[in-house]
Amino acid sequence: MNQRPNNSLSLSDNDSFYSPSDDFAQQARVSSMTQYRQMHEMSLQKPELFWGAEARELHWFTPWNQLLNWESPHAQWFTEAKTNLAFNCLDRHLEAGLGEKAAILWEGEPGDTRAISYKELHQEVCKLANVLQSSGIGAESRVIIYMPMIPEATVAMLACARIGAVHSVVFGGFSADSIRDRIEDSGAELVITADTGWRRGKTVPLKENVDKAISSNSQIKKVIVYQRTNTPVSMQAGRDTWWHDEMASAPGQHEAAKLDAEHPLFILYTSGSTGKPKGILHTTAGYMVGTYTTCKYVFDLRKDDVYWCTADVGWITGHSYITYGPLLNGVTQVMYEGAPNYPDFSRFWSIVETYKVSIFYTAPTAIRAFIKAGDEFIKDHDLSSLRLLGTVGEPINPAAWHWYYETIGNSRCPIVDTWWQTETGAIMIAPLPGATPIRPGTATQPFFGIDAAVLDENGNPCPPGVAGKLVIQKPWPSMLRTIYGDDDRYRDTYWSDYPGKYTTGDGAIMDEHGNISIVGRLDDVLNVSGHRLGTAEIESALVAHPLVAEAAVIGAPHELKGEAIVCFVTLKAAESQSPSLSSELREHVGQSIGAIAKPDQIYFTSGLPKTRSGKIMRRLLKELVNTGEITGNLSTIEDPHVLEELKATVLGVSS
Ligand code: PRX
Repeated sequence: MNQRPNNSLSLSDNDSFYSPSDDFAQQARVSSMTQYRQMHEMSLQKPELFWGAEARELHWFTPWNQLLNWESPHAQWFTEAKTNLAFNCLDRHLEAGLGEKAAILWEGEPGDTRAISYKELHQEVCKLANVLQSSGIGAESRVIIYMPMIPEATVAMLACARIGAVHSVVFGGFSADSIRDRIEDSGAELVITADTGWRRGKTVPLKENVDKAISSNSQIKKVIVYQRTNTPVSMQAGRDTWWHDEMASAPGQHEAAKLDAEHPLFILYTSGSTGKPKGILHTTAGYMVGTYTTCKYVFDLRKDDVYWCTADVGWITGHSYITYGPLLNGVTQVMYEGAPNYPDFSRFWSIVETYKVSIFYTAPTAIRAFIKAGDEFIKDHDLSSLRLLGTVGEPINPAAWHWYYETIGNSRCPIVDTWWQTETGAIMIAPLPGATPIRPGTATQPFFGIDAAVLDENGNPCPPGVAGKLVIQKPWPSMLRTIYGDDDRYRDTYWSDYPGKYTTGDGAIMDEHGNISIVGRLDDVLNVSGHRLGTAEIESALVAHPLVAEAAVIGAPHELKGEAIVCFVTLKAAESQSPSLSSELREHVGQSIGAIAKPDQIYFTSGLPKTRSGKIMRRLLKELVNTGEITGNLSTIEDPHVLEELKATVLGVSS
């Protein structure tokens, strides 16, 4: 039964590869590396065969006449086809007689529960689709969804997809300013939110944040408010309506729109290397086929699985592996509203036990928090239903991997370390659990149809073991189509390093077996608890504070979060520095972006190291914080004296 460490594949370093157990492999969809290699080769050589076969498992109102129309860097997949994602997530299963199957087993943070069948979910989605249409929302109208982790978030996304409206989900932890930016950039007309949501026993003021975001903005015509906690909120007559009132009179039948394959599906904002988040645009058919196929193979789904992805629908993982991938596959999934440590660190394990979760997908940052909390929160829970574990969002350090494998998986569940991005829409590099030998901390092999390479500055493949830039050399169905409203930025950011190839922004190393390990971001993007934050975004929030003249933000290793946010700040007037200024600036950043962006450390300094052309030399700050020294090339620095002060500040004084 146990996974057997397979040292014959071990490289020169210490960590061995773990091959799938015979039991697991025998029942898996892909059960050997030979099979994986044949299928991978075929998927690259004959994409029509591979993607065509996968796509035909789904429903199409009109079939495609060409798999791919590629005019770099713009792709159209499944050209001329007509389909509907919500139809494929719901109606298709009803037609197959699966209406009574549980789609969502939901648990609220206070302990309330709901089981929602595919039939019930379909009914709710149809009703909301009718509500949206009668509110004047049509194909391509943009809708902001700012919701807690409740089934209605999924209903809202699917209702948009059903009528062809473009959803833009804003993570419930983001601030009013972040909502406002996203409303303005997307040109949204309607917001779906809740009175408040639960988080660690407290309520999160969702409706209040929406009110602040749209107070000076008339483009939002309607706000639909779900009553989650019954907290009183202000309702503006003529603009705000209650979800339950709207749904009470809405018909439960709705004919899904027959949408073009390239019909826009959603915009999801993510951080880049400038101050302004990028609106990543995904479209219908390619995203549908990509999430369906990756979910099926990477999680090796079976009919009776109980699948649980612990992400939030506000991030891409929640889009692809809570809302779309699992529902396209007709699986039963668990959805949990609250914090992993509420009321204590046993919450996740009691959920696994109660619902008999068989596939569990989470982030390394959560795993590290559980390790720190101690194994006593786990030992009383029966985790024997688990058969497969997954991770996403950041590299998993070997110590966390081993704990996850042994303590949660009881040394019998494969771990799929899945590498992908908001932009890629679906998993790109990951083991196939019945086939791929796994090495802790390594995302391993590219998925079918994915042509991944690690290149040097000249575009040549790096030799095995040498780090370079991770690129994808061919288009894939679930790829982003553009940055909403900024196609030039799309070309510059992703397609300008090597002609015709997609630059991921990540560094990676490939070994002689083709296994890929992710080294981390190469641009000014931090990965804090598996979430992307641009250093420029935090810097612009800091300099918007009236006392701040300049700011430089860097990442430093953090035991739990992966990366910590470290800020260097110069003030307009040195005398304005007060003992409370650090916490004031932390709050200020929290207000302008969201709590996840609050700095961990703020150093005040009279100057920042700059080049003669005035560019802040963040690499020196990074080196100083990470090693306590500055040894790098200093020839371009304008004023070397600032370094002495910085050293004294970082090594001696803490903010
Ligand atoms: O740096 C990589 C890291 O997360 C980035 C993408 O972030 P985001 O668009 O927010 O999507 C996160 C969830 C898919 C990547 O550029 N990353 C993601 N997964 C992994 C990872 N780094 C290492 N290993 C992973 N499995």
